[in-house]
Amino acid sequence: MTFGERFTMSNVSDCLLVSFPKITEPRGNLTFIEGGRHIPFSIQRVYYLYDVPGGSERGGHAHKQLNQVIIAMAGSFDVVLDDGCEKKRVHLNRSYFGLYICPMIWRELDNFSSGAVCLVLASSYYAEDDYYRNYQEFLRAVKGGEGDE
Ligand code: TYD
Repeated sequence: MTFGERFTMSNVSDCLLVSFPKITEPRGNLTFIEGGRHIPFSIQRVYYLYDVPGGSERGGHAHKQLNQVIIAMAGSFDVVLDDGCEKKRVHLNRSYFGLYICPMIWRELDNFSSGAVCLVLASSYYAEDDYYRNYQEFLRAVKGGEGDE
């Protein structure tokens, strides 16, 4: 399956862990990410969560069109993926792995370690009208197939 084929799907099984190149040297490791090569879209936006208090939860929404890759740049946290039928919890704790999240996946982030930094690579600029922030509304959209409106 190619990355392009994954774009149109909205199942938790399509949210794959991507492994980035890692150059290991005695003076330290280096990882690089190239848009459209190591991730299935060109990067239009980068944002990051940091100074997350213990016990905090982030996310709690789905995107209609946005593709994202989430990376634990430091520390660790969990991402709970939910396509309306199935849920999957993914623990991220290595900066050379990214979790690809396709559109129409409800996600929640929790279990942040102290000092965790969550980096997000996104396919579009921030747009509030791309969000489902209400879970029941999200469920209606995925069950009714209205997600790509
Ligand atoms: P939100 O997407 O709810 O954060 P999270 O999913 O991590 O819990 O965004 C929190 C606030 O930040 C909200 O007011 C929107 C704003 N925001 C931007 O202005 N630009 C961005 O790129 C993002 C991701 C959020």
